[in-house]
Amino acid sequence: MLSERQGDALRVRTPAKVNLFLEVVGRRPDGYHEIATLMATVSLFDTLEFTPDMAGGLTLLCDYPGLSTGPDNLVLRAARLLRERTGCTLGAEIRLNKRIPLAAGLAGGSSDAAAALEGLNRLWRLRLSALELASLAAELGSDIPFFFVGPAAWCTGRGEVIEPLRLGRALDLVLVVPPMGLSTAEVFRGVTVPNEPRSGAAIRQAATAGDVSELGRQLHNRLQPTAERLCPAVADLFMRLAGLGSAGQLMTGSGSTVFALCRDPGEALTLARALHSARDELGGARVFIVRSCD
Ligand code: C5P
Repeated sequence: MLSERQGDALRVRTPAKVNLFLEVVGRRPDGYHEIATLMATVSLFDTLEFTPDMAGGLTLLCDYPGLSTGPDNLVLRAARLLRERTGCTLGAEIRLNKRIPLAAGLAGGSSDAAAALEGLNRLWRLRLSALELASLAAELGSDIPFFFVGPAAWCTGRGEVIEPLRLGRALDLVLVVPPMGLSTAEVFRGVTVPNEPRSGAAIRQAATAGDVSELGRQLHNRLQPTAERLCPAVADLFMRLAGLGSAGQLMTGSGSTVFALCRDPGEALTLARALHSARDELGGARVFIVRSCD
């Protein structure tokens, strides 16, 4: 997350993430699943602008018509939680410039919530540490704390236990986002917990070494078969990517985005161009060229 002051206002730019590995290790009594995942932020950003509201109101405005700006929005839930825990009575107007696709496995809503905690902590001069913000974040959603640690991390528990990981080199990816999104809860409900969960040791090593070919071989997402059943476009687009010769391909998070891991920016461009020339067969899917964040 990158924040800058502009007079009274504050602007925070916050990234999307991808999962390069996601294993489901067990089902928990609280309804969640124990997971092990390798996450990395990528260069696709939402921007949030915070302006003080002297009357103490909390409002959210968004340039994306399909998104609720009501009290259920994670940004406003984050703002309310921050006020509740610190006793702060200040208000804010929040403008959300939405670029990260919704319900796509890219954690756009989670990233926005993390940005809201970060931005309002500064705007209201609350002086909470990153650790304190991450702990509040975990109450709002499993993958929100990651955004206080990124750019890459090995995450366990519900996803909120985070161990930073340094990528050996920047990763070039092509994201393909079907028009239909998926509900995280629904995908997790349909997952089969494996008897022998796959170890993440090899992919962690490949990520740290910056060995893209090995990373490509080790890509894994336990949620993908369930997501493919719920949304056949995931399987179609995955097969299409598999035919384009990248280092590897995978669905991110609970879907519905699939991505190709490329060997360099040139390969990403060639692959995106190939997808663009076949755009009539992509069923309205959008294509983004991104790079892992520093
Ligand atoms: O934590 P978050 O609110 O993002 O999770 C959304 C839903 O996804 C949860 O209500 C739960 O059903 C499911 N989930 C899960 N195991 C996880 C993370 C999420 O079952 N580790």
